[in-house]
Amino acid sequence: MSKVLILTGAGISAESGISTFRDSDGLWENHRIEDVCTAGCLDTNEEATKKFYDARREDIKDKKPNYAHQLIVELKQKYPQEIAVLTQNVDDLFEKAGMKSDEIVHLHGFLKELRCRGCDEIFDIAYKAQDSFANLCESCGSQLRPNIVFFGEAAPKYQILTQKLNECELIVIIGTSGNVLDVTYFAQLTDKSILNNLEKSSAIDDSCFTKVYYAKATDAIAEIAEYIEDFLEEL
Ligand code: APR
Ligand code: ZN
Repeated sequence: MSKVLILTGAGISAESGISTFRDSDGLWENHRIEDVCTAGCLDTNEEATKKFYDARREDIKDKKPNYAHQLIVELKQKYPQEIAVLTQNVDDLFEKAGMKSDEIVHLHGFLKELRCRGCDEIFDIAYKAQDSFANLCESCGSQLRPNIVFFGEAAPKYQILTQKLNECELIVIIGTSGNVLDVTYFAQLTDKSILNNLEKSSAIDDSCFTKVYYAKATDAIAEIAEYIEDFLEEL
């Protein structure tokens, strides 16, 4: 049973140099969601879609985790049962900071994987371009696709999110605008809640949170980690 749920978004990786989606100059300012991240775009716009994710893979190759990733990995390893870490991010910065694959849930998929459109088998592609890897699944011969959840598609790992939301007593939200996941609602479901973003988001009612930090994640994380440890020690 995880008493603490840490849920992160693009903001936690911003200081590592990975663009967020909705901040100024974010990915959705320079690319149309409809073109590269919507159900069906692999059928109507396959080349541009693959190219977009090839570029994302290339972009994360040399990026390094920051202090916020590192401290969360340390906390998770100190309290493996008590803390659940879920991220909307498709980058590998938690893994680069030492997180094992079974210690983190990537709710929206993972850039370093392709998935078979037929049998759902997952293939590790690392930082390669999709076409240089393989076009067809070696098990069933169907086409491969980025293992990313597009808008309008099912997100199977939301089941884990629901389960963790039911279990947790403290939820910690870091670096998400709340446009995709309704983090205000999550805070209302939970006894205690922490919000850390760079600035206020129109999609979040911050009055529903126990504690709010408008600061860079790397500046706020030490205090947040202390709060989590105090919370767990008092249980
Ligand atoms: N520290 C903390 N927060 C930050 C920082 C930082 N250094 N820089 C930016 N932020 C915050 C912004 O204030 C904003 O609230 O991160 C948030 C980024 O919001 P979005 O760009 O909307 O990213 P996110 O909420 O993760 O997007 C959700 O949308 O398109 C999809 O699937 C994609 O997983 C993604 C989902
Ligand atoms: Zn297959």
